[in-house]
Amino acid sequence: MTTTATHAPVDLYMSPRLLAPGGTPADHPTHEQRYGPLTSFHPAELLRAAAESGLTGRGGAAFPMYRKLASVAEAGRRTGRTPVVVANGSEGEPASAKDKTLLRLSPHLVLDGLCLAAEATGAGEAYLAVEDDATHLEAAVAERGDRDRIPVRVVRVPKRFLSGESSALTQHLDGRPALPRHQNPPVRERGVHGAPTLVQNVETLAHLALIARYGADWYRSAGTPTDPGSVLCTLHVPGREPRVVEAPYGLPLHRLLPLHTTSAVLTGGYHGTWIPAAQAAQLTLTAGNLGAGVLAALPADRCGPAETARVLRHLALESAGQCGPCLSGLPRIAAAFQTLAAPGPQGTTREDVSRWAGLVEGRGACHHPDGTVRLVRSALTTFAPELDAHAHGHCTATDRTPFLPVPRS
Ligand SMILES: Cc1cc2nc3c(=O)[nH]c(=O)nc-3n(C[C@H](O)[C@H](O)[C@H](O)COP(=O)(O)O)c2cc1C
Ligand code: SF4
Repeated sequence: MTTTATHAPVDLYMSPRLLAPGGTPADHPTHEQRYGPLTSFHPAELLRAAAESGLTGRGGAAFPMYRKLASVAEAGRRTGRTPVVVANGSEGEPASAKDKTLLRLSPHLVLDGLCLAAEATGAGEAYLAVEDDATHLEAAVAERGDRDRIPVRVVRVPKRFLSGESSALTQHLDGRPALPRHQNPPVRERGVHGAPTLVQNVETLAHLALIARYGADWYRSAGTPTDPGSVLCTLHVPGREPRVVEAPYGLPLHRLLPLHTTSAVLTGGYHGTWIPAAQAAQLTLTAGNLGAGVLAALPADRCGPAETARVLRHLALESAGQCGPCLSGLPRIAAAFQTLAAPGPQGTTREDVSRWAGLVEGRGACHHPDGTVRLVRSALTTFAPELDAHAHGHCTATDRTPFLPVPRS
């Protein structure tokens, strides 16, 4: 199942910066009317604006963007290889719909950002990678004619959780299976065709396009000094379709989620963290807790361990099975969590899961096992009362209908 998110207006919190108003896709004339034309930039000027803005990546790791831009440009100069830039719109995370929504409503903002990143790094090739039908994006590229310094190629990646991992993406662009590879050297040194490659989430690039137009101070006028700017979030709340909103960093979570009817909140998506609702009520949106931009408020009548078990099964099935942690560790943890999710004798299963989590962490070629372990550990802590009840043969949940979206396998 793919999440079909509605784009909800967010005037309550701030005027949306990234999403076209009214939920209507912006063609190029409308885009220029709204934001103004994009002028050409000297790479140093753009790097400085990116650094001063404090823009961080929106693909999960919140890495400062200017550092990646600078290191790809530098690797290009050092190796004599012309860099490649890739806009990552894969969004293999089943609970996330923010990148698809952004690409549907404001494709030119992403394409502007990609072209700016190409200018800043001196790239010779630019790709926009997406999971879904790319027809409207090809039309958007065609609409731009020869405005861009280098042409953008739109490519489709397989619908898989791992496809958007940066090395899987560069493998795919090289005609190989879209699977992660060992990160040494990293793709910013050797990526597509062995050239230094910048892989950047589409939302990050869209923010860059606005920073180039309006400056770092404007970008910082939303958010907090430590987490400046706004961010797209996919919200899952009981009784509503998932929806995508744009909110400033620093906004209290209770402004976005109905925490009074919630037992726990999943922050950051399936590589993220479960937090008890009472604790979530004290938190604000930060780059650190938002991961891939997913927030899910688990209804109080559902079973947290059962939800986690369904997600873990998906994560284990989605792993490429290339490395030990994914080959044996994740399936074992997922199967054990299935036992924990059902009321009945648990034996040493909880301790086993904790031990196995420690054994897989940091041992994969990519961060898939680490992200999965983060989810497991937070579930063991947040749902400790539910797991105790299960061990005594009870479950407090009254509704076993699945809440979090997990594709059928
Ligand atoms: C298993 C896995 C899946 C990932 N999937 C995506 C994805 O779908 N989209 C994305 O932008 N980043 C994804 N990432 C992160 C990318 O590897 C990369 O860090 C990101 O695209 C960099 O862009 P950013 O710095 O703008 O966030 C994934 C990482 C892992 C470990
Ligand atoms: S850690 Fe898992 S997902 Fe990552 S490359 Fe190895 S087998 Fe694949």
